[in-house]
Formats: sequence, structure tokens, C-alpha cells
Amino acid sequence: MNRRDFVKVLGVSAMAGWASLEARAQAAVAPLKELADQKRLMFGSCLALKYFNQSPAYKELFLSQCDIATPELHMKWDSLSHQAGEYDFSNADQFVAFCAANRIKVRGHTLVWHDSLPAWVKQKISPETAKTMMLDHIHAVAGHFAGKLYSWDVVNEALDPGSQRPDGLRASPWLQDIGVDYIEQAFRATAAADPKALLVWNENYLEVSNGFGDAKRKAMLSQLDGLLARGVPIHGIGLEAHLRSDQANVLGDASYEVFLGELAKRGMKIFITELDIQDTSLPVDVGARDKAIADLYRKFLTASLRQPAVRGVITWGLSDSFTWISGYRPRKDGLPVRPLPFDANCQPKPAYYAIAEALEAAPRRA
Ligand code: XIL
Repeated sequence: MNRRDFVKVLGVSAMAGWASLEARAQAAVAPLKELADQKRLMFGSCLALKYFNQSPAYKELFLSQCDIATPELHMKWDSLSHQAGEYDFSNADQFVAFCAANRIKVRGHTLVWHDSLPAWVKQKISPETAKTMMLDHIHAVAGHFAGKLYSWDVVNEALDPGSQRPDGLRASPWLQDIGVDYIEQAFRATAAADPKALLVWNENYLEVSNGFGDAKRKAMLSQLDGLLARGVPIHGIGLEAHLRSDQANVLGDASYEVFLGELAKRGMKIFITELDIQDTSLPVDVGARDKAIADLYRKFLTASLRQPAVRGVITWGLSDSFTWISGYRPRKDGLPVRPLPFDANCQPKPAYYAIAEALEAAPRRA
């Protein structure tokens, strides 16, 4: 979005300096969901309901910006079940009801992952039990929400070159106890439990054009070819995009766009599912930090959105006050991290304007 457009949005007649324009914009910034919708894209964020209790302003911000949401915690296995065979859907149901009431689509997240497993699953899982446990879980959870979700992240982070396997798959408990076809079984079971949901493989580091990322891309395309040849119902790929500012030179480059093209050729819808930017290696100065972060948002999203198969952008939080990065990748100097488009007071940062510009520059989807 250029300055003139912001002037239009804000209803001020004269062109103002960028800084003062930003100051005025604090009261009424163009909602990212509307900029996205103009291109028939979706924009959203993850959300944990507790944030709304902590900050009513955050609730307002969320409602103004998002038309799609991912539960940050509520649908993970260890959030849903504390004992074998028992599920408590109350928080996840509340999340889905809130989204339905506000016409926000829900990305179910996530059915089969090596992380966020309840203690009882870790204790019980074995080559004898794993397949039944996985299928029962999918049946219970995808069945419970059937017809209510836009999509499901059926498998999460199933690739890991670090596992040193020729197929690039992660040596997760599911792979070790069920075998390589656990992925196929998971997709088939989810399709049976919720035939309406778009079924997604959500994955990290595919967006990074270095040796590790390249290995993941090759493994992903080869897995995808096998799944599609066997008629497995897989409809989309999620690129988490937890980006690092010190990797800016290997993000959003030509080889990334080639990879997106390979996914598109295979009929995949593509989603940027957990976007944020770690500022660990950036200077103390907030202006310099915010500029570097905004530049990377712009570069990465401009490249991503050029590919028409990319249908939505979901950030992993909206404001710097509610971000997993503060625990996961804190700054060594102890300063608050600034990975998201809005600051801790829900005011737009340069990253917001960069996202807005990338959405404005995106081709309209057919
Ligand atoms: C993270 C949440 O943000 C944290 O609050 C939680 O403690 C751990 O999980 N990949 C994913 C997300 O698919 O579910 C993770 O979310 C971040 C990495």
C-alpha cells in the first residue's frame, strides 16, 4: 500500500510525512484481511483464547485484521487429552464458536506430530499400539469438528534431514512404530472423518534456500509424488515460515519460487502458516530492527504471493506482546523481541506496512 492509499483509508486530505502518517494510522489501519480479500487471499494469525482475557485491545485487533485463525494450542493432542481415551474439547469448541460467530475460518492444528504429545501417549506408544492410537485420535478429533473447519494440518513437521534417512523423513515415534506409511494412513483417516476439510501437510524450513532447506524440499516433492500416485487425499502444503533475520539472503529468493512452482504443478494449495521473524541477531536500536524485519517480511511475502497457488498468509501472532518467540528465541540482551506486525500496544509497526504492501502487490487469484 502506498502513502496515497493510506491517506484515502484514513480520510485525511493532505499527503503527510510517512512518520506522521503512521502516527495517524494508529487509530485506523487498513485491515490486512481486507487487503488480502481484494486479491482473494486470506489473512490471519494463530490465537490462544487467554490472550483476549489479558488484553481487550488485542481482541479488537484480532477481529479487525483476521479472516482465518489457527488455534495456537487448543487442538494439540496434549491440550485435548490428559488420559487415555478421554477428550476435553471445551476450549477448542469455544475457539471454533468464537471464529464461527465472527466469520473467521479455522485451520485445525494439528493431528499427527512428534511434539505436544500427552504423557500417556509417550508412555503407551509402541509398535503394537501406535497405529490404533493414531487412527483413534484422528477419528475422535477430526470427527468431533467435522464440517466446521476450513482445513486440517494432518501431519506436522514430518521431515527432518537431521534424522539421516535417505527419504528425509523424521524418525518420529509415528514413523518408527508404524512405518513410513503412517502419513498416508493419517491423510486417509482424516478424509474419512471430515470429508469437507482441506487436508494439509504443515512443514518447517522448506522456505529456507540452504542445504537443510534444499534437502527438505527434495524429500517433500518425492513424498508428495508417492502420495499423489497412490491417490492419497492431500490438498495443501503449509510453510511455517518461522524466519530468521540473519538468513535474509536465503529467504524469498529465486529457488524458493521454483519450489513453490513445483508444489503448484502438483496441484497443491499453499499456505504460509506460522509467519514471524526472529530478531535475535539484530541491533538494539528499535528503528533499525523494525526496518530489517519489515524488509524481510516484504521480500519473503512478495516472492510467496507471486505464486498464485499461495492462498493465505497466517502469522504466528499479531502483536509482540503475545509471541512464542519471547520464550523460544529470546534476545541475549534481554530486550523484548519484535517479531510481529503490531507492537505490544497493538500499534502497527513497519512490518505491518510491509505486509500490506506485499498484499497490494500480489496478483489477484482466479
Ligand atoms: C508453539 C506455540 O506457539 C507455543 O506456545 C507452544 O509452547 C509450542 O508450540 N511449529 C508449530 C506450532 O507447528 O504448533 C508451534 O507452536 C511452533 C512451531
